[in-house]
Amino acid sequence: MKFKKQIFGFMDMLRFKKLVPNRRAALAAGSDRPLPKEYRTNQLAHRLHPGMMEVELTKVRHLVPGMTELTFQRLDESAFPFFRAGQYVSLQGQVGESYVSRPYSIVSSPRQALANQLVLAVADAGFFSGWLNKEAKPGQRFRMTEPSGEFHYETLRDKKQIVCIAGGAGITPFLSMAQSMAEGDEPYQMILFYGARDRAHLAYQEELDGLTEKGLRVVYVLSEEEAPGFEKGFVTAALLEKYVNPREATFFLCGPDAMYRFVGAQLAPYALPVKAVRRDATCCSDLALENPRRFRLTVHIRDESFTMDAAEHETLLTAMERAGVPSPNKCRAGGCGYCHSKWLSGEFRVAEGRDGRREADRKFGFIHPCVTYPLGDMEIEVPPAE
Ligand code: FES
Repeated sequence: MKFKKQIFGFMDMLRFKKLVPNRRAALAAGSDRPLPKEYRTNQLAHRLHPGMMEVELTKVRHLVPGMTELTFQRLDESAFPFFRAGQYVSLQGQVGESYVSRPYSIVSSPRQALANQLVLAVADAGFFSGWLNKEAKPGQRFRMTEPSGEFHYETLRDKKQIVCIAGGAGITPFLSMAQSMAEGDEPYQMILFYGARDRAHLAYQEELDGLTEKGLRVVYVLSEEEAPGFEKGFVTAALLEKYVNPREATFFLCGPDAMYRFVGAQLAPYALPVKAVRRDATCCSDLALENPRRFRLTVHIRDESFTMDAAEHETLLTAMERAGVPSPNKCRAGGCGYCHSKWLSGEFRVAEGRDGRREADRKFGFIHPCVTYPLGDMEIEVPPAE
């Protein structure tokens, strides 16, 4: 035993003595070609996540009363990044003195993005969306964030049968999801319940009917009109059961809060797991307050400081945009964390059900200006916009 140990110790010594010459020889034999400046993985990552994109409006089309379709092409690259059907982009521009932005679900399919075409549909509600509905013209240029959001199908989480429920302008992500399924990029079976006031307010009916030949099932539900081939009323549990087994499906909902409340109540008796009902996030809107108070908001961005008016019923993000101070944002719903800013002083309230901050954020004084309303003079530190 002792003898063996001595032999191995001797061989280790020999190896150790040769360690440096062996390494020198290996280095001398290596290629002297310089390392690539960029690797393919990084190039792919950049194509999929380009950050902010420069875009131009190429086509404007009226869809239904109060809704306009906008088609964009990308200027800084020859294609938009591939995305998951159901995701959104934030469109950003300048209207007068104000910087404005809004998240919009993508209507077109991920494959169209690769052909440098991205389509949004904008309902005529709010300052920027109203302006786009009235003033948008081909040739105008904007900035656009990369596609983002969790409102998309996930093979491991979701059932193969998906039930999509759209209210009014909430049809937009479902057109992309239906097209993506028809193009063979998604594995689900999709049935769409599309609620609108009447037939005149059904956007994309022709496109949806065309997709029924490729596997989509559509049920139109009109609340104020009776017509053959259309359901009358609202998306109730009884109506759902007429077409699908709710216990064997994953639900995707996109529409106004009132629709979420109504459909949520209809689905409650099934006691579905939380993951089985997915709701698209809506922008945080103004609070309905009588005679809202006005405060002073001081914003520090790197070594610059700005002071502006901030109304009690508007978010801090809206106040900054109104004052022409560009600040980072994407979802405007408290979910993406992109506007994450440091609170320095002043009282505030966070929109109900929108506080997406982590415990550590709350403890160390971070806020999301997109869902924060002032309750007094405030001072915050905001990261610079891209
Ligand atoms: S913009 Fe997404 S959390 Fe504020």
